[in-house]
Amino acid sequence: MKPHTFLLSAIALILALSAVSCSKTSQSDAEMNACIDSIMAKMTLDEKLGQLNLPAAGDIVTGKASQSNIGRLIAEGKAGGVFNVKGVEKIKELQRIAVEESRLGIPLIFGMDVIHGYETVFPIPLALSCSWDTAAIRRSARIAATEASACGICWTFSPMVDICRDPRWGRMAEGSGEDPFLGAAIARVMVEGYQGDGLKKNDEIMACVKHFALYGAAEAGRDYNTVDMSRQRMFNDYFAPYKAGADAGAGSFMTSFNLVDGIPATANRWLVTDVLRGMWNFDGFVVTDYASIAEMRQHGIGDLKVSSAMALAAGTDMDMVADGFSGTLAQSLEEGNIDMGQIDTAVRRVLEAKYKLGLFADPYKYIDAKREQTEVYTEANRTEARRIATETFVLLKNEGNILPLRKGGRIAVVGPLADTRANMPGTWSVAAVPEKYKTVVEGIRDAVGPRGTVTYAKGSNLYADPALEAAVTVFGRQMRDPRSEEALRAEAVALARSCDVVIAAMGEASESSGEAASRTDISLPDTQKKLLEALLATGKPVVMLNFSGRANVMTWESAQVPAILNVWFGGSEAADAIADVVFGDVSPSGKLTITMPRSVGQIPIYYSQLNTGRPKNNDAQFEKYLSGYIDSPNSPLYPFGYGLSYTTFSYSDFALSAHDMKSGDTVTASVRVTNTGSREADEIVQLYIRDIEASTSRPLKELKGFRRIHLKPGENATVEFPVTVDLLKHYNYELEYVAEPGEFSIMIGPDSRTLRSATITLH
Ligand code: NOJ
Repeated sequence: MKPHTFLLSAIALILALSAVSCSKTSQSDAEMNACIDSIMAKMTLDEKLGQLNLPAAGDIVTGKASQSNIGRLIAEGKAGGVFNVKGVEKIKELQRIAVEESRLGIPLIFGMDVIHGYETVFPIPLALSCSWDTAAIRRSARIAATEASACGICWTFSPMVDICRDPRWGRMAEGSGEDPFLGAAIARVMVEGYQGDGLKKNDEIMACVKHFALYGAAEAGRDYNTVDMSRQRMFNDYFAPYKAGADAGAGSFMTSFNLVDGIPATANRWLVTDVLRGMWNFDGFVVTDYASIAEMRQHGIGDLKVSSAMALAAGTDMDMVADGFSGTLAQSLEEGNIDMGQIDTAVRRVLEAKYKLGLFADPYKYIDAKREQTEVYTEANRTEARRIATETFVLLKNEGNILPLRKGGRIAVVGPLADTRANMPGTWSVAAVPEKYKTVVEGIRDAVGPRGTVTYAKGSNLYADPALEAAVTVFGRQMRDPRSEEALRAEAVALARSCDVVIAAMGEASESSGEAASRTDISLPDTQKKLLEALLATGKPVVMLNFSGRANVMTWESAQVPAILNVWFGGSEAADAIADVVFGDVSPSGKLTITMPRSVGQIPIYYSQLNTGRPKNNDAQFEKYLSGYIDSPNSPLYPFGYGLSYTTFSYSDFALSAHDMKSGDTVTASVRVTNTGSREADEIVQLYIRDIEASTSRPLKELKGFRRIHLKPGENATVEFPVTVDLLKHYNYELEYVAEPGEFSIMIGPDSRTLRSATITLH
């Protein structure tokens, strides 16, 4: 064979092989690389930039998608994916345009904000975290993935893992609370739940860990606001959940809107490349948040062209909505401000994601109209959602054991949240179908059945001020009653007088939290407080159901109302789940994953605080020259980890298997927990550690373990926590992850305030 003939045959063979490897679902790196090499060799610069573009979908009408703006973009190879389109037919049509009409036929990736379920909506993430039930949270993500994928979605913008210690920030609702250890555990199981067994099956979808990074630390709790913190705090208090997501193999990350060290996260090379890819070995792709490249102009960094080049150079791969990559990178390349290698790297990462999802082998892998009919909002999924919801409610107070109520007698259900379907699922439930969900009144009524009467009166609007109410009842959730607040209240009071007990469904509307829903006053609006006061004045027992997407200030309520159940937003099955707990079919077991402050003035407030040089007894009143307030104790109203049950638990026999440790040792910390009440229930046992002597100041306590156990009346269990040297580590000043010799205090208890402790010395 002549040399050139040999060369040609070899090339033909390579091309043939790479074509074959694209049609395989194999995940061997060599085959994936061969597939992507073969595609990239054919791509024009425009087509490459198209893969980096994630445009807004707009309103897609089935049957007319090809004439829409997005349809044209796809056909021209100018979109790498589309997001937040609901319905398998629409998605199929868009995919058909990509595969059949674009020159190279590269399939699209379809994303959606499937944050806490699809049509079967689970409790908001903050609520889910209060279950501390990682197995259940993993199942919720699995179910969400199954339903979303049955409708054509292969990529979810979840988990949202931003640590938040400022409840003014509305997006506290979307995360797992204030603690990095618990947050990391939840991030891990959510990624695993979504991605299943490595994206092989058509019900496994790619996770997107967001918002990288520190979005929850916005100054003053104002959404999109500046973040500024030391690297030590980033690594010790905020980064763990993102890292856990990367370690669990999340296929993608989303950058945040905020600054990190003065540079927008989207264009922060230290963050996206050095930390995420360098330190954590993340090998997926990074997408921006919505238009965040364009927003860099407002941050004072530069115009769209400058910002896009900077974002690409930082290691960001895909541009959501800004049209910065597709619109300006060609010019930046020509001007020498970026190079082709940077573009190719980003394109390769996006194509790799599509390959890993199996879209090259079968662009219609997630398109199955039958699955959409049979796998969404099923009985089984709803049962699971209802069960998990019961685990998320936190019983804050239960004076005189008012709860559980008996299923009988005359029950008045009142309050602005009592009879609204649209407000049940909670914020960021893009695929929810509220018409299918029950209201609180319906849930209570169904549970009581013919044994009693359940009557309803609204009692008040959310706010007396219609403008405030309008701000929190957007997206079709309006529920204003035109009557005066006095008239509404009078009606409810009359109803309460005629009943044996009052259930007051109050608090926030679903859109009082979530994106762009920050509040300076996080207490119950005045008109609702007046209603509560009037209901209490009737002398009837009042049970308050607090709907909420954040920690609220409930100082007045906790002094006045005998029973308070924090129900957050419990998802599509919330009404039945509330009835399950209110009537005692299930004992409440949720525990707070955020600190409930006494007043807004205490914010930011979190249990893992540093000691200061002048510490003061947290519950004591003012003392001059100690770290405190003139007008308030430092302690919160309800601490992190707190939650009551219908039974009681006692903790005894706290022990450590040793008091000295050296590298490689494990000490066992144990405690006996006994159900001392009369109902079976779950208890969440918590382990905290303090590093007493360290090279930098360490928190008074940090959660390092938790266990959810179930005990029958009189039953006990010994709960053991292995304390490894790893658990004693922190990031030192040089950002090395180290366990420093010295004393550590090991604490176990039912919440972050009620702890027994003993010390270990690490040699
Ligand atoms: C903006 C939000 O910040 C983000 O969480 C979401 O995933 C995107 N929009 C896409 O909807």
